[in-house]
Amino acid sequence: MSIKTIFVTGGAGYIGSHTCIELLQANYNVIVYDNLANSKLESLRRVEQITGKSITFIKGDIRDKDALKNAMTGCDAVIHFAGLKAVGESVEKPLLYYDNNVLGSLCLFHVMQELLIKNIVFSSSATMYGDPEFLPLTEVHRCEATNPYGETKLAIEMMLRALYNSDKDWQIALLRYFNPVGAHESGLIGEDPSGIPNNLMPFITQVAVGKRKQLAVFGNDYQTPDGTGVRDYIHVVDLAKGHLKALEALGRFECDAINLGTGKGYSVLELVGAFEQASGQSIPYIIQDRRPGDISECYADPRKAKDLLGWEAELSLNKMCVDSWRWQKHNPDGY
Ligand code: NAD
Ligand code: WQD
Repeated sequence: MSIKTIFVTGGAGYIGSHTCIELLQANYNVIVYDNLANSKLESLRRVEQITGKSITFIKGDIRDKDALKNAMTGCDAVIHFAGLKAVGESVEKPLLYYDNNVLGSLCLFHVMQELLIKNIVFSSSATMYGDPEFLPLTEVHRCEATNPYGETKLAIEMMLRALYNSDKDWQIALLRYFNPVGAHESGLIGEDPSGIPNNLMPFITQVAVGKRKQLAVFGNDYQTPDGTGVRDYIHVVDLAKGHLKALEALGRFECDAINLGTGKGYSVLELVGAFEQASGQSIPYIIQDRRPGDISECYADPRKAKDLLGWEAELSLNKMCVDSWRWQKHNPDGY
């Protein structure tokens, strides 16, 4: 059966909206299902503006089985982005995270099984590797969630593996993202965090645009070249293209976990420097204590994605910074 219509849960969000562009440009029909808990419908209007194509949007919650069933009938595959993702909030409200992410996914998989839709690409996370035992991280690294958010990702991966083991007709890709940053180069869509950003890049861009006074760098006493934490930042457009590749490769591998990263790590201060160079803005910062739960270094071995999907990240750190800045500059208050 050929795949034509894609059901995108959480498609109005940051990574989902960028992925919708790639799907539309590759001529798929796109149905976005999102409760707008952490996004705005405007993101999809802009995706339509960028692509000149239309999206079917259904406002709904993945925990609502009847609504899901109505919305999904006739779809061929699912890309499952819907979920809550704030690590700190998950520590404070673990039940909310289990309810939204785990129960929501369970509900989604039930409906998929009922409707015989057995193709799925799932948003997993490098957070599952915990504190790395070795670097770069390969997919065989042990998984140990260190917070409720990570636990939900682990639980969903396990659910999907069990499902595949019970019925090999399922075609499943578990994509483990590293640190997505950047924005579409049009400057029309990008990351739009509500409140104070948890993540480094949106914090930097908000300092640059004058919304925040300075960046707090969380620790400069790690065992890294300049003492600040090292991460594998990946351009969200590269990440979005990875989803298209995964969708097209479904069935060519087992229910596999696949890293989506660049393979290269940059420190907090390197990212700050690259951003200053790309934007011409200076980013004042102070050094603070380490953030509890943070690890020193994390970067991917991306070879499996290349071997299985024929995908590798192409966009540079400079491009990540240029595009993040363009989005923030043109949309100082987000959508
Ligand atoms: P996002 O918050 O921008 O997008 C998630 C979308 O899901 C939002 O539009 C939100 O409204 C929707 N949603 C949440 N709960 C829902 C529910 N119960 N029913 C329907 N819709 C719901 O986040 P993002 O950065 O685009 O992340 C997408 C996925 O990728 C998430 O599952 C996240 O855990 C995962 N991920 C993100 C990162 C990252 O750093 N951004 C890294 C690794 C994995
Ligand atoms: C990057 C680096 C911080 C903010 C998180 C989640 C992970 C995944 C991606 C979903 C670290 C430092 C940050 C700031 C700083 N999400 N930093 N000042 O922690 O690698 O990963 O997002 O799956 O699960 O944990 O990303 O952007 O928060 O931090 O110094 O204001 O920047 O200490 O070294 P992280 P991040």
